[in-house]
Amino acid sequence: MSIARWLLSGVLLALAAQVGADDSPRYFKGGAGTDMAAFVTENCVACHAVKPVGDGPRHSAATRAESGPPLYYVGDKYREEWLREWLQAPERIRPAGYYPSANVRASPEGDAIDETSLVSHPILDAELAEEVAGYLMTLTPYADRLAQEEYEPASVPLRMARLDFRRFKGCVACHQDVKGEGGVSGPELYSAWSRLQPQFIVSFVRSPGQWNPDTMMPVLEMNDAAIHRLANYLKTIAEE
Ligand code: HEC
Ligand code: HEC
Repeated sequence: MSIARWLLSGVLLALAAQVGADDSPRYFKGGAGTDMAAFVTENCVACHAVKPVGDGPRHSAATRAESGPPLYYVGDKYREEWLREWLQAPERIRPAGYYPSANVRASPEGDAIDETSLVSHPILDAELAEEVAGYLMTLTPYADRLAQEEYEPASVPLRMARLDFRRFKGCVACHQDVKGEGGVSGPELYSAWSRLQPQFIVSFVRSPGQWNPDTMMPVLEMNDAAIHRLANYLKTIAEE
């Protein structure tokens, strides 16, 4: 190899390393007339399921580190206002990603989250976020399931409810109920009330596998009153 070629390949390698290390997010701008279903299929399927999938694995091992939750029932799960805001300014919800095992590495101090393999989420401008959120909210394949929930949200005394969430039910092993306090294998729950529909929270806690056959959220045998108390706790911390 000539010196010039050798130097050039060095430069290319350096460039490649830089591209790999560049985690600045993709930025999407709105434009009149964009077909939202097509936009989502084109730009979101790489990391999100946009259709129900069969019983096989949802994502290949190579894409697990980048994967996010399914988007085909957004209208049954999220609150539209939250969705519109989050798409413009995404903040991390799952400290170790959607598949923690893909982002956690063993280290001498114990397991550590590999921040470099976590996704910097694409950002949408205000116009596009409004349109995408509006479209995604029309996806409600499980509306009947949610309509069966008989849950009336109420506030509860914080101290007892916190004790229940943390100590008696053990939710804190996997979830943070206060920023920086709690486990990292599940989504943070301090913003759950502003993020999720109340009926979804109740339904998901009772039977996570109905929503996600692959889920790592365990079924914790509880009656409806106990589940409602936990949902009320999420409401109460949102109002603190
Ligand atoms: C490079 C992979 C990637 C792409 C592309 C991507 N996402 Fe995501 N998305 C993720 C990951 C990973 C998460 C989980 C983020 C977290 O937990 O903090 C996520 C989370 C979300 C959430 C929050 C919901 C939740 O509970 O975590 C929404 C809404 C969302 N994505 C919508 C979209 C839309 C709409 C598009 C297409 C414009 C898109 N995403 C493109 C990887 C991606
Ligand atoms: C062993 C770990 C673990 C425990 C214990 C656990 N969870 Fe989870 N939880 C998870 C994981 C992982 C997810 C994400 C699952 C998914 O998206 O399918 C989750 C998801 C959730 C969600 C949906 C959040 C969202 O944004 O999608 C709620 C609500 C929830 N858990 C509440 C609870 C409550 C309440 C308890 C205690 C009774 C609890 N969890 C105990 C691991 C756990």
